[in-house]
Amino acid sequence: MGKKVTVVGAGFYGSTTAQRLAEYNIFETVVLTDIVEGKPEGLALDISQSRSIEGFETKVVGQTTTPAGEGYEAIEGSDIVVITAGLPRKPGMSRMDLLEVNAKIVRSVSENVAKYAPNAVVIVVSNPLDEMTALAQIATGFPKNRVLGQAGVLDTARFTHFVAETLNVPVSSVKTLTLGSHGDTMVPVPSRCTVDGKPLADVLDADKIEDLVKRTRNGGAEIVGLLKTGSAYYAPSAAAARMARAVAEDSGAVIPTCAWVDGEYGISGVYLGVEASLGAGGVKKVVETTLTDGELAALKEAAEAVRAKQADVASM
Ligand code: NAI
Ligand code: 2OP
Repeated sequence: MGKKVTVVGAGFYGSTTAQRLAEYNIFETVVLTDIVEGKPEGLALDISQSRSIEGFETKVVGQTTTPAGEGYEAIEGSDIVVITAGLPRKPGMSRMDLLEVNAKIVRSVSENVAKYAPNAVVIVVSNPLDEMTALAQIATGFPKNRVLGQAGVLDTARFTHFVAETLNVPVSSVKTLTLGSHGDTMVPVPSRCTVDGKPLADVLDADKIEDLVKRTRNGGAEIVGLLKTGSAYYAPSAAAARMARAVAEDSGAVIPTCAWVDGEYGISGVYLGVEASLGAGGVKKVVETTLTDGELAALKEAAEAVRAKQADVASM
């Protein structure tokens, strides 16, 4: 049987993710759900009507659900569930301002996912990302490797774009890396960044690299400030869809992921942005890379910051 993927939340992030997953043409079914009656059905019908133009056969199904679980039969048998349900930021808000309201949403969604798709790999997107990923693991009760979060693919892609734009080179010649949290303690890792194989420090001066690091850390807020009514979704949906693809294809690709860290980098017992090999069961392995002393210290600081918040969500 072909693969089935569900996207919970048919807002900007969820609907564009469903579209990208369908356009890959590797899934048998993409299910899109939301609590707003008719919204997921309407968007799924719209995406389905693009099939002959874009050339994909994936069946796209929309389903209205309730927090109590009505409608969740539609997600039964899902191999992967992407959770995008929750409020986005408004200008001036930090991701952390969303904590309480999104915790309620993510907990109820996760409980329904556990009931109706007990074997799924869960990819969390809702903000604040590191905390919502921890909460989804607690609320589903799934093994920790089967619950992961999307942040690093997006943050890395933003860093890559900024470097390529600054140097006026193709994005394909740039490799960047970000670790840590999807928040103030994000850790862009210049020592691991290259342009045509050359270290970033050989092609950009230290002040410019620091500017790009800051812009990357502020990448989400920059777009929120411009849009004023919501947050980014084109690059974010590309990021989540790419992770879902690695899981669906059991590719083993090493991807920046919010994953459960258990001893790597001397850090234990926390969901944190690290590189991880992804496959059918979720995270196959957290992959450690060489960091400078400063980068390692920043990663440890990020771990302690998210650890404190992740403890709070357990009771939310
Ligand atoms: P949006 O407001 O366009 O969509 C959110 C959708 O969730 C709405 O359609 C709403 O009806 C739905 N929803 C609320 N409660 C629900 C429930 N219990 N079950 C099912 N659906 C429910 O927001 P957008 O732009 O789609 O963003 C979604 C989330 O993704 C936000 O929390 C945002 O901060 C986060 N985000 C995360 C990023 C990341 O890198 N991890 C990047 C960009 C956004
Ligand atoms: C972003 O990074 C707000 O998390 C969202 O675009």
